Amino acid sequence: MFKTRFTERLGVKYPIQCGTMMHISDAELVAACANAGIFACLASAMYPDEESLVNELNKLKSLTDKPFGVNVSLFPGHDARTVEVTLDIMAREDIGIIETAGRSPEPHLDKIRQKGAVHLHKCARIRDAVKVDKLGVDLVAIVGAECGGHPGMEDIATMVLVPEAASSIEAPLVAGGGFCDGRGLVAALSLGAEGVLIGSRFLNSHECKIHESAKQKLINAGLTDTMIIQRSIGSPVRVLTNEWANEILRMENEGASLEELLPKLTGQLSGEAWFDGSDDAVFPCGQVVGRTKENLPIGEIVSNIIAEAEQTTQKIGSLV
Ligand SMILES: Cc1cc2nc3c(=O)[nH]c(=O)nc-3n(C[C@H](O)[C@H](O)[C@H](O)COP(=O)(O)O)c2cc1C
Repeated sequence: MFKTRFTERLGVKYPIQCGTMMHISDAELVAACANAGIFACLASAMYPDEESLVNELNKLKSLTDKPFGVNVSLFPGHDARTVEVTLDIMAREDIGIIETAGRSPEPHLDKIRQKGAVHLHKCARIRDAVKVDKLGVDLVAIVGAECGGHPGMEDIATMVLVPEAASSIEAPLVAGGGFCDGRGLVAALSLGAEGVLIGSRFLNSHECKIHESAKQKLINAGLTDTMIIQRSIGSPVRVLTNEWANEILRMENEGASLEELLPKLTGQLSGEAWFDGSDDAVFPCGQVVGRTKENLPIGEIVSNIIAEAEQTTQKIGSLV
């Protein structure tokens, strides 16, 4: 059930991707997703050198025999040389699926394709989706304004973005931003997507190693407890509302420069705070944390999504 070009091209059972999450998408999380029949990518940017990245890839390969991918970040902070070096490691390690996001992958296409890897690119604007589609990317993901991590500058909600993107590109579309359940999966497919991208929901999974108090903060959060920072530097991020994020927004509103903001924004702070339970950092997450109230094993999250999607499909069928 739910066979699409997404399931065919990525070789997975279900049309669901666990969104790549910096500091979080490690070998155990990605393997748990793969073993549950969905697609996920290792966040290569978490590993500071070739040795640690290759060790993690070996661990991942030992934990699953199902397809998985590796995310190669093109966000500012990852210069072209770093990207090329990472892509060479992917080729040496025979990684069959590469995900890019953050900037146009055009300068790196030859390296991405050097071993015939399937290429998925994630973006947040229709024009970027159209551009990468013309470049021949195998799958295109698009995220709406409610997503965790980086929404676009344009504040277009998933509901509007997804059908427009689906009508504008040839490649299979993956819809992201605000999804967490089976009704969402059916909605994404109805809007023209061929897979659904779910990030924040997996923060509250057994295999996600963030601190129990961080998981509890997400469970306690309501629909209005996220906010967007970093608009002033052209790189918006949706995060959990807390004192730290409010202080950043205050500084932005007062015209703080990038140099003044950087010490507050550094990803290293979040990387530590997710795991030590501290509040002194930003915690990227989407509005959907307001609908995520249970910490469950990934296999159970996935089987719940599929069961609800099947029920929903039958219910809609009975209405026709
Ligand atoms: C904690 C966290 C970290 C993220 N890190 C990355 C990242 O490193 N690279 C990336 O492309 N997207 C990143 N994202 C975005 C997700 O891959 C995905 O696009 C997003 O979570 C989908 O929206 P949702 O949170 O509403 O499900 C991150 C999201 C979260 C919640």
